[in-house]
Amino acid sequence: MIILGIETSCDETAVSVVKAEGDLDSLSFNLLGSAIHSQIEIHREFGGVVPMLAKREHLKNLPLVLNQALKEAGFEDGLGDMNYELWKEKNPNQKFPIDLIAVTVGPGLEPALWTGIKFAENLGKTWGKPVIGTNHMEGHIASVLLKQNNESGIMNYEIQWPALALLISGGHTELVMMRSWVDKEKIGETQDDAVGEAFDKVARMLGLPYPGGPEISRLASQARESGIMNNELRLPRPMIHSKDFNFSFSGLKTAVLYYIRKIEELTETDKLEIAREFEDAVTETIITKTKGALDKYQPKTLIIGGGVIANKFLRENLMNLKIDYPDLDILIPEKSLTTDNATMIAMAGYIEYLKNGVDTENLKANGNLEI
Ligand code: KG4
Ligand code: ZN
Repeated sequence: MIILGIETSCDETAVSVVKAEGDLDSLSFNLLGSAIHSQIEIHREFGGVVPMLAKREHLKNLPLVLNQALKEAGFEDGLGDMNYELWKEKNPNQKFPIDLIAVTVGPGLEPALWTGIKFAENLGKTWGKPVIGTNHMEGHIASVLLKQNNESGIMNYEIQWPALALLISGGHTELVMMRSWVDKEKIGETQDDAVGEAFDKVARMLGLPYPGGPEISRLASQARESGIMNNELRLPRPMIHSKDFNFSFSGLKTAVLYYIRKIEELTETDKLEIAREFEDAVTETIITKTKGALDKYQPKTLIIGGGVIANKFLRENLMNLKIDYPDLDILIPEKSLTTDNATMIAMAGYIEYLKNGVDTENLKANGNLEI
């Protein structure tokens, strides 16, 4: 079936058209078209995402992004504003190209989520097609299922169960044990700030623009390349020795704040040193927690999703887990699917459809939706 995915949970307006086949044991996805509009420039001057501005921008951009994605998928007329009856008239012997609409219902910013849900519902009515609500975090898990790294096009991974999912984004830091697509259990999560949030807040303290992750990442690798580090600066690795699989990043952020306060004038070298040590502290914490979970639960696969996996140093360190766990299958999304996108929402929507069918009851925004 062909699924239209819609994502508006935060500051990206995204639509994708994905061809989905197979059952839960043999999923197969093919990306037909996708478009994304980022609001980063608009929120930057406020140092973070402003929910009401996000809503306004989603409303404005959804029709444009939809048409762009449909066009890329080969539906020349855009289809977006075309009525189902009209389309039928024009194409009497053809099957309507979209079978299902999947939209993010949470977690995320509720005003932003609602714009996507209402838009999806209207589209569903116009096209006479069902709409399915999708969990954004399940989207980040599904993001590893599509790879386009060979010339012939698409390559899909089959998940070897059980799998451990490490989800690291701007709003979440979670470890989830999965015995199948249906049987999932959250085994740990952050007690305060999410890891992406910590990147963003520390970047702000250093006077760097939003979103801070890529900025810190850039400074930290610059520091590594030029051998810049400060042995006097040692940030905490919060909860690294706790026996559970929970995280905490707020103390790390505060430690950076105290360190900066002691410095009279923050130099470029200070910033490089802080970025590097902060990235080291985050990486060491995530690696240690993940290893603990790998040792206890012995999964065959490690799935890693969420915007923070765009961080090169962290990604390299996670991939190096292969050395200690040679039989572990480590799945990371391709670059375009690391941060928020609608392709992962279409894929997670298909999984949800296979699991539970279409349930119109769950088409409500839930900012705190759990996995
Ligand atoms: O998954 P995502 O796009 O949105 C949420 O669902 O939250 O993740 C966004 C987060 C932001 O906090 C951003 O700073 C962080 O991912 N991020 C990074 C990098 N690129 C994005 N963090 C560290 N290093 C990066 N290269
Ligand atoms: Zn996300």
